Amino acid sequence: MSITLEREPSSEMERIYDKIRGSVPRFEWEMHAPIVEEINRLKRVRNAVILGHNYMVPEIFHGVSDFTGDSLGLSIEARDTDADVILFCGVHFMAETAKILSPDKTVLIPDMDAGCSLSDSISVEDVRLLKERYPGVPVVTYMNTPAAIKAESDICCTSANAVSVVESLGSDRVIFLPDEYLARNVARETDVEVIAWHGRCMVHEQFTVDEIRAYRKQYPGIEVIAHPECSPEVCEESDFVGSTTGMIRHLDRAPSKHVIMVTECSMADNVQEAHPDLEFVKPCTICPHMKKISLEKTLSALENLEQEVVVPEDVRVRALRAVERMIEVGRSPGN
Ligand code: 13P
Ligand code: SF4
Repeated sequence: MSITLEREPSSEMERIYDKIRGSVPRFEWEMHAPIVEEINRLKRVRNAVILGHNYMVPEIFHGVSDFTGDSLGLSIEARDTDADVILFCGVHFMAETAKILSPDKTVLIPDMDAGCSLSDSISVEDVRLLKERYPGVPVVTYMNTPAAIKAESDICCTSANAVSVVESLGSDRVIFLPDEYLARNVARETDVEVIAWHGRCMVHEQFTVDEIRAYRKQYPGIEVIAHPECSPEVCEESDFVGSTTGMIRHLDRAPSKHVIMVTECSMADNVQEAHPDLEFVKPCTICPHMKKISLEKTLSALENLEQEVVVPEDVRVRALRAVERMIEVGRSPGN
């Protein structure tokens, strides 16, 4: 006679699974659960905090993240934490921002190659040439850039505060880098003249007006909410435009039961738990950089204290000025 010993799933793992059962099949969760348990145990041993961006897969977002949110919210969490180790489940520029704000902490990222098409779109030489071409015009730099670009800038911004940051400078012109679409979306909302660069987000540039119109036709009354890295034409076609956190907050006020989030795939999965009554139509566009971050790599980084993010001190100090100046501005209304 053979005996099968079944291991009871821990109540903590069941509690986590309850949050993601709509998007992660049970058999898949059974593979994730032991890794999630081990990461959460090691976090305590290492006195580590895990920051999870809204685009992380649900098992990272709900399973191991101590704080979740958008670029702005996570940079503030990074600044305020007492942990010895910050493990950033997001892309490289986000982890770099954590290091800029917390130089004495060990900042890790599960995969060093998790980059960003915007971050790659501009060089330090490009910024210097622009400053020469427009002397005295302040440089506003989107957070989605390397530390060396932030260091060349007067102030940073995120999608949660771009308009407020531009208007905070009291200048009638700004150089806005590097996202062309975000720059054009900001320009629609302010009288300040915006000089743009030609960077694009490889995820958000894919959405089209025709696609949005087709969804509206197929699902009459659907609420369309978009990220401002989409083209101005797509944003114009949407009911609400905001940062990833702004989009989540908007869901509390969304008049329709049916929503389409014009952004990265994982967003709708992650917010479903807080909004069980909403039904999402999911135009699935994956960010290949965000999706480099897996549970396995998160565990390995924490186990071995590997994939450490470093920023040269002279660059860090100059970038810090631009980031802190942005944090002082806070969020734009509705974001
Ligand atoms: P948020 O700052 O809105 O979270 O956006 C970051 C990002 O990379 C969007 O593509
Ligand atoms: Fe960069 Fe776009 Fe990916 Fe965000 S979604 S990290 S902007 S490539």
